[in-house]
Amino acid sequence: MMEKQNVYTKALVTGAGGDLGSALCRILVAQGTEVVALNRSREPLLKLVEELGDTGKIMPYFADVTQFEALEQTLRDIVAEHPDIDLLVLNAGVATPQRIEQFDWRIARAQIDTNLTANYIFLSVFMPQLLAQGRGQIALVASLGAYVGSPYGHVYNASKAGVRMLVDGVRAELDQRPVAITGIYPGFIEGRMIAGSAYHVDSAVPADEAARIIVDGLQRGESEIRFPEETVALVERVVAMPAEERDATLRGIMGEAPN
Ligand SMILES: NC(=O)c1ccc[n+]([C@@H]2O[C@H](COP(=O)([O-])OP(=O)(O)OC[C@H]3O[C@@H](n4cnc5c(N)ncnc54)[C@H](OP(=O)(O)O)[C@@H]3O)[C@@H](O)[C@H]2O)c1
Repeated sequence: MMEKQNVYTKALVTGAGGDLGSALCRILVAQGTEVVALNRSREPLLKLVEELGDTGKIMPYFADVTQFEALEQTLRDIVAEHPDIDLLVLNAGVATPQRIEQFDWRIARAQIDTNLTANYIFLSVFMPQLLAQGRGQIALVASLGAYVGSPYGHVYNASKAGVRMLVDGVRAELDQRPVAITGIYPGFIEGRMIAGSAYHVDSAVPADEAARIIVDGLQRGESEIRFPEETVALVERVVAMPAEERDATLRGIMGEAPN
């Protein structure tokens, strides 16, 4: 029997100027999907549009996803201009490790706003639209960090664990309705985010490879996309440990404490 393959007409990708986001846009455009690409800063996205410009398949929009009221208006404009969007990849994210001695709740809130709360603005605007059109898929990029709280990175972990709960709850609620929601749980991906990470990173998946794994998983209709296998196995082992052993293991895989 042929494997089911989702085919998308038009995707909205956030964080489209970043390492993973731009790789996702390249793959989607190459396979003929039009891409509404959303980014906060102009330069990296305009560079990507220039690179892919000949295809005419990528349309840039700019928004800071933490400016919720303005974001809602931008999304309503996007829906009006692109009522045929049938895939959302909510990929914008930020990770700012902090030491507990110098903890700043504002930095924490910016991470929660970006990584978790902003997703609810997208859901509010797009879920009724996708349900009314009778098809669509919403993919949220969380992290394998959604499964364990780590030193310095626990705000990031909390935000991504929140995304995991969002996806699990909405998926169960959607049940047999024709809109799917997918949780994406990558390990380390090469690029600027791990350069500023508090982890000791031995190996990381190249962004184009990560994007390929994600797009393939989405097209197969997978509910959860978790990779790479070795990190998934490590996380499963760590989650099963008693708290003290888990703490010691996590401390052992952290790099330098952030400033
Ligand atoms: N890299 C990893 O190892 C890794 C592992 C697991 C999960 N992830 C997740 O994968 C996603 C993509 O990460 P990446 O590695 O591609 O990181 P990245 O290169 O730093 O890209 C992050 C993207 O998010 C955008 N963004 C950040 N804050 C924003 C805001 N307030 N409003 C709008 N856009 C905002 C950035 O835009 P600007 O250009 O304006 O900053 C950038 O385009 C994130 O959700 C991340 O948490 C990454």
